[in-house]
Amino acid sequence: MSSERTAPAAPAAAAPVLTAPGPRLGQPLPHDLLDDAERMTREQLRELQLARLRATLRHAYDNVEQYRKKFDEAGVEPADCRSLEDLSRFPFTTKADLRDTYPFGMFAVPMSEVRRVHASSGTTGRPTVVGYTEEDLSMWADVVARSIRAAGGRPGHKVHVSYGYGLFTGGLGAHYGAERAGCTVIPASGGMTARQVQLIQDFRPEIIMVTPSYMLTLLDEFEKQGIEPRDSSLQVGIFGAEPWTEELRREIEERAGLHAVDIYGLSEVIGPGVAQECVETKDGLHVWEDHFYPEVVDPVTGEVLPDGEEGELVFTTLTKQALPVIRYRTRDLTRLLPGTARPAFRRIQKITGRSDDMIILRGVNVFPSQIEEIVLRTPAVAPHFQIQLTRQGRMDHMTVQIEARPGTGPEHRKSAAEQIAQAVKDGVGITVEVTIVDPETLERSVGKLRRVKDLRPS
Ligand code: DLL
Repeated sequence: MSSERTAPAAPAAAAPVLTAPGPRLGQPLPHDLLDDAERMTREQLRELQLARLRATLRHAYDNVEQYRKKFDEAGVEPADCRSLEDLSRFPFTTKADLRDTYPFGMFAVPMSEVRRVHASSGTTGRPTVVGYTEEDLSMWADVVARSIRAAGGRPGHKVHVSYGYGLFTGGLGAHYGAERAGCTVIPASGGMTARQVQLIQDFRPEIIMVTPSYMLTLLDEFEKQGIEPRDSSLQVGIFGAEPWTEELRREIEERAGLHAVDIYGLSEVIGPGVAQECVETKDGLHVWEDHFYPEVVDPVTGEVLPDGEEGELVFTTLTKQALPVIRYRTRDLTRLLPGTARPAFRRIQKITGRSDDMIILRGVNVFPSQIEEIVLRTPAVAPHFQIQLTRQGRMDHMTVQIEARPGTGPEHRKSAAEQIAQAVKDGVGITVEVTIVDPETLERSVGKLRRVKDLRPS
């Protein structure tokens, strides 16, 4: 995206520099807009990582009782880390560690140095609480700003933030990152969908940051108000906080006429801005490895897997002060790939699921994303669906409820249902019941969407 686009007097009809997606993708970031770490060689980066890793292990061991206990039990101490590979000798950290020390027990600095907390709403039990020093908040703004630039954002762009503001890290994380990138922030937060569309129409932002499922809700609202979303000012969408497929990317890009790129993060590590897809390649997310060291491990044995192999993503923070995390098990499934648009930083392949989202239906592993791919490939149905799990006798049963596109008659609905059930059987290997429901009858997302309703007796 070039800066001419940001001229305040740009007439409404001006053709966007980043045009509708297709073979012409966004432009690479000019070299002078890369920051110091982005210009490093892989060797320089690894050297920096090792120095930071050793300091982080020391900081965690000296200041957090939980880490001291765990390291002692595993018979390792910070000085044992002489290479990046040595990290694999250190114990994992899990959500349970944060829960056991709720709320502030894993903080490594005095409370007087903690400037902010966020929390993630656990589906069960206590939330996990995370804390930030002033330096942490500044680093977070830097990595989100870097992410926005990688997505095509430039100083002077307007960024509409529809991630929720509050204890969730999405809203405030995106907000300060966009400010740091020199953009103008429109802090819309989630909800009040009709008003969001109005704000986009009136303020003409170039960029939107929102969950992909809420973007679909916004697109429906545009159409409901009789506005063609492709005519909006939006040129780039930075979508994350939940899994989404290539099929959903295509759907959003075509309907909204923008570049859809992926942003990843989790509160325990920092929030959004751990990894980001570059707009010019859209080939997975570059992990900002100068701050977050990734490993991929076998989810069962915990053994580190070589790059390229799929497993569970594990992160160690390299610069965080208030809440350093050592080998945090994310539960997210992906693989590590070599860097492309930012050669020093490895990429993660787009995350299609978490190990906890995996449904085991009569012995077959299924991810909601596999159903999403099939639903989105079927023209008669809308991209709104929900999975319900019930028990019929002793057998688990999966029902997929999908909304018809407006104007789809009973015959077409019936054949779409059959087609989808067959595609699931052929592609995933399970038998599901597919019900096509009327348009606008399923619950809409205002943030992170819950795809699966598990109604099985526990
Ligand atoms: O969702 C942080 C975030 C906010 C990321 C806004 C991106 C944009 P949590 O609420 O702690 O933090 O949830 C973290 O969400 O472990 C993944 O399972 C999932 N997740 C986040 N981004 C993606 C993504 C925020 N791009 C959990 N693709 C993570 C797939 C994602 N899953």
